[in-house]
Amino acid sequence: MTAVPTNLTASATPTASESRRTFAIISHPDAGKTTLTEKLLLFGGAIHLAGHVKAHGERRRTQSDWMEMERARGISISSSVMTFERGGLTFNLLDTPGHQDFSEDTYRTLTAVDSAIMVIDAAKGIESQTRKLFEVCRLRDIPIITFINKIDREGLDPFALLDEIESTLALDVCPMTWPVGMGGDFRGAFDLRDHRYLKSESRPGAADGHVVACNGIDDPKLDKLVPERILASFRESAALAVSAYPGFDLGSYRAGHLTPVFFGSALKDCAVNELLEALATMAPPPRPQPAEPRTVYPDEKAVTGFVFKMQANMDPNHRDRVAFLRLCSGRLRRGMKLRQVHSGKMISLQNPIFFFARERQLAEEALPGDIIGIPNHGTLRVGDTLTEGEELRFTGIPNFAPEILRRVRLDDPMRAKQLRRALEDLAEEGVTQVFRPIIGSQWIVGVVGQLQLEVLASRIATEYKIAVGFEMAPFETARWVASDDPAQLKQFVERNSGSLAEDRDGASVFLARDTWDLNRTIRDWPNLRFLKTRERT
Ligand code: G4P
Repeated sequence: MTAVPTNLTASATPTASESRRTFAIISHPDAGKTTLTEKLLLFGGAIHLAGHVKAHGERRRTQSDWMEMERARGISISSSVMTFERGGLTFNLLDTPGHQDFSEDTYRTLTAVDSAIMVIDAAKGIESQTRKLFEVCRLRDIPIITFINKIDREGLDPFALLDEIESTLALDVCPMTWPVGMGGDFRGAFDLRDHRYLKSESRPGAADGHVVACNGIDDPKLDKLVPERILASFRESAALAVSAYPGFDLGSYRAGHLTPVFFGSALKDCAVNELLEALATMAPPPRPQPAEPRTVYPDEKAVTGFVFKMQANMDPNHRDRVAFLRLCSGRLRRGMKLRQVHSGKMISLQNPIFFFARERQLAEEALPGDIIGIPNHGTLRVGDTLTEGEELRFTGIPNFAPEILRRVRLDDPMRAKQLRRALEDLAEEGVTQVFRPIIGSQWIVGVVGQLQLEVLASRIATEYKIAVGFEMAPFETARWVASDDPAQLKQFVERNSGSLAEDRDGASVFLARDTWDLNRTIRDWPNLRFLKTRERT
């Protein structure tokens, strides 16, 4: 077992690259991600009153919601970044869209984090979206801290919840806090490592005001604080939990094999502070990033980073595009010039932006793990690597083959140019993918889910003032076509021109009418590769 310091700062003077905790929260809608985000920002000192984020009687509204549509639907469509500082560390929380239709954007966001918090509703256990997002984290060995939320409501038995994590996610678990009563009996939680009783009284912002230091779960102090029946039951189950599960192992957690589990309540501020402490002391600082032809380490001197997200029109009064850059190494300073490796162009960072909870600020300096926004007019693209000159490409930021294809019908043909611009902008953000058929002039858009189509139409209408409709396309699925033999590829393109399109980068895409068509084509062209994902080269 590895000892982990319990104070908030990971080490007395963290080096530059150790001072960042860049993380995301993964969960199923309604598990409490928004509430927990608010509380983390509140406890991190980034906002002062959680109530102002979610006003009474008003529809839910959070710092991370940018768009009308999100508010109307109560879902968070676009990711954003929230930065706060505490105990000498800087926390960068990347918001992942909670809706299942937006897996592509979410996937890319998860390429930019070093760890994740998995929020589970105590009454529901692991739900489908959590599981999907977890699989993405596992692919990238992202370490996960689990927060089992809403223990103030009736929920499943804590052991059943831990069993479920172990068996369905194949993760070792280590309970860090344990509920002191649940539902009607809820009296708080107990910090099993530091022996602290976290009383249930909700006192927003008063993080330490309701913490009672104890000498273990048998401390007589507890007898005065917790009703006898609830205490007896807590003591019995907590003792069993301590003996049944192995102690916390930092190496195992950071390798993605073990998850520390916090039972708590975001709404009642229970165990939120402990979660934040765990992020500070256990969650990894910026990790080495996979790249070609070599891995990049955060303590390298030269600045490197990659664009994982693009957002157009963040400010409705000011049509802008912001590229979200994850810094992987070096110390970035405002005014620097970085090379866009893909094109060889130099990009001048005159106005890089930091995203604080409530505002954006000019970034004078940024360190590995930080996310900065770079306003630009379409030069930067998702997947871009920026360096001080080195020929390098960060890997693992793919496009996914869409599951729904539609033709775009433009009501006013005079606006074809504007439509092209709108589709390209929105494709860049990951709202849609666009394909230009080799034959014919109608754009085809590809999305992963139905809701994405609605978002697309609504944004084209409100942000670009173009009326469009979507028509069924005679295609059901798409695959990127690749081959080591250019002659074969050319032959394929010539023979199948009616089913071929180009993506934004000019890569060939085969549009299949149905699965049968796809399988037959794959069989007929054994020397070609039909790919479900594509990374920019
Ligand atoms: P999400 O972002 O994951 O979708 O969840 P969100 O935080 O919006 O929380 C969903 C609902 O669960 C909210 O209820 C919220 O207040 C509630 N909730 C979150 N954390 C806790 C908790 O620790 N305990 C309890 N009891 N509730 C919690 P709502 O929108 O106000 O109302 P409703 O959805 O219950 O109607």
